[in-house]
Amino acid sequence: MMTEDPGTDDTGRTDTPPAGAPAIRTIAMPADTNPAGDIFGGWLMSQMDLAAGNLAALTARGRAATIAVEGMKFLRPVKVGDEVSLHATLLGTGRSSMQIRVGAWRRSRDSHETEKVTEATFTFVALDEDGRARPIAP
Ligand SMILES: CC(C)(COP(=O)(O)OP(=O)(O)OC[C@H]1O[C@@H](n2cnc3c(N)ncnc32)[C@H](O)[C@@H]1OP(=O)(O)O)[C@@H](O)C(=O)NCCC(=O)NCCS
Repeated sequence: MMTEDPGTDDTGRTDTPPAGAPAIRTIAMPADTNPAGDIFGGWLMSQMDLAAGNLAALTARGRAATIAVEGMKFLRPVKVGDEVSLHATLLGTGRSSMQIRVGAWRRSRDSHETEKVTEATFTFVALDEDGRARPIAP
């Protein structure tokens, strides 16, 4: 789980999500919209952060925090009622840091068709009990 390719950049964009289970799957609700009725980009970013954080905690075997987000792209809108699946994959680790690629796909609740809606690379840092960077155990 969570080790498959979550989708690629402009050259490799795919509307077919990875075959494995997503890190997170959720439904976009009316409470997640702006006054115009569209889903907030911030809601989607928080879901991506949760998905990456799930994998980061597992990789770090404990507490971890987001330190950077790169290459955030909103490719298509998400609609109320859409099922949103977030796939995360570990690109690599440093001493305390982890680079995690996250992609999100939407599916209308009445259709099997999927569309890629966002992608970004998150960097998480493993933290000790005092909130300082700590080495990731091999
Ligand atoms: C995470 C935190 C403790 C790291 O502290 P720090 O003094 O920057 O720690 P370091 O300099 O030792 O860097 C830690 C790692 O982050 C990496 N890093 C630092 N800044 C980075 C950046 N802008 N982008 C990517 N990686 C970065 C370093 O390269 C290092 O990686 P490595 O250990 O694998 O070599 C500190 O930045 C922090 O508390 N940030 C807030 C985190 C947070 O609250 N996130 C949620 C936001 S609401």
